[in-house]
Amino acid sequence: MRLLVTGGAGFIGSNFVQLTVRERPDVQVTVLDALTYAGDRASLAPVADAITFVEGDVTDAPLVDRLVGAADVVVHFAAESHNDNSLHDPWPFVRTNVIGTYTLLEAVRKHGVRYHHISTDEVYGDLELDDPERFTASTPYNPSSPYSSTKASSDLLVRAWARSFGIQATISNCSNNYGPYQHVEKFIPRQVTNVIDGVRPKLYGQGLNVRDWIHVEDHNTAVWAIIDRGRAGETYLIGADGEMNNRDVVELILELSGLPTDAYDLVADRPGHDMRYAIDSSMLRTELGWEPRYRSFRDGLAATVAWYRDNEAWWRPRKEATEAKYAQLGR
Ligand code: NAD
Ligand code: TYD
Repeated sequence: MRLLVTGGAGFIGSNFVQLTVRERPDVQVTVLDALTYAGDRASLAPVADAITFVEGDVTDAPLVDRLVGAADVVVHFAAESHNDNSLHDPWPFVRTNVIGTYTLLEAVRKHGVRYHHISTDEVYGDLELDDPERFTASTPYNPSSPYSSTKASSDLLVRAWARSFGIQATISNCSNNYGPYQHVEKFIPRQVTNVIDGVRPKLYGQGLNVRDWIHVEDHNTAVWAIIDRGRAGETYLIGADGEMNNRDVVELILELSGLPTDAYDLVADRPGHDMRYAIDSSMLRTELGWEPRYRSFRDGLAATVAWYRDNEAWWRPRKEATEAKYAQLGR
């Protein structure tokens, strides 16, 4: 199989490429990545000799046409991915997430290539803390932020191209990922690296917002299950029953680091901050037989904390600029 992975130098994409090289020797991987502030070739260093890397933009139609034409399957991870950045400057989100997806879809349509679209549960908006419901594939779209609205837009383009043009496409909407190679702007790596630096973790608002955490490797084994056995035109929700509020996550990071569990600060809340996400992944489990490998969030988080301690050279170059950006926002 000739596989084109967009955004393969980012957090989830680089973990996907590494997993693929480790476990799928039948697959030839080409990565297309623009190496924005969020992309890093060092995240692909362990597999650099086993893949082809193309530095380029998913909105570059001639380049995308050439690469898609040489592939059997496309997995589209490339995106602007951080909510806080989208509140500050939405345009790169519209450009990459909407126009980039459109550009890929047109090439996929022309070349008749199988397409898998990586998306987020944030397209569904948020849930109340006491709501017994979780998101399913039939939950109405109701995105809150520029980030989630551009992801929702891209999902709708995929659905329209599948229905109107018959492209062979699947979509997955996954909950919050954690694990190695995640940018220090995101919640868990930010707090883990703050603790390493002797800085108190920072919780937005009261720290009561709930996220449904999944280890990045579990996200990626689910993506492979969909590529292997998913039905064209279908949407699969990916989650591992990992609901936890932000305060509990920070307390666990502090405990795993041998510090008092109240050694954190509450800071200004994010505007429009979604309260809770929760995924019902029963369709993925029953239809495709997928199960997560990580059974305990505590074990997965402990491994992640250890990874950041052992790989300071990977994250250190981005830490100062990231914190300077947060300082401007008062967070
Ligand atoms: P990331 O920000 O770590 O990586 C994004 C990658 O895309 C980077 O390597 C970047 O250089 C590249 N990129 C950005 N703009 C590009 C462009 N115009 N052309 C080519 N490459 C470009 O993001 P991530 O956390 O790895 O997320 C990957 C995908 O998974 C995204 O589509 C995101 O919406 C989705 N997702 C993320 C999560 C999460 O918890 N992080 C959860 C569910 C879904
Ligand atoms: P984040 O990693 O930005 O993911 P998302 O916005 O896609 O859920 O944030 C996860 C949660 O953590 C979210 O509720 C916002 C919160 N948060 C903090 O409390 N402090 C922080 O420093 C950051 C970056 C996020």
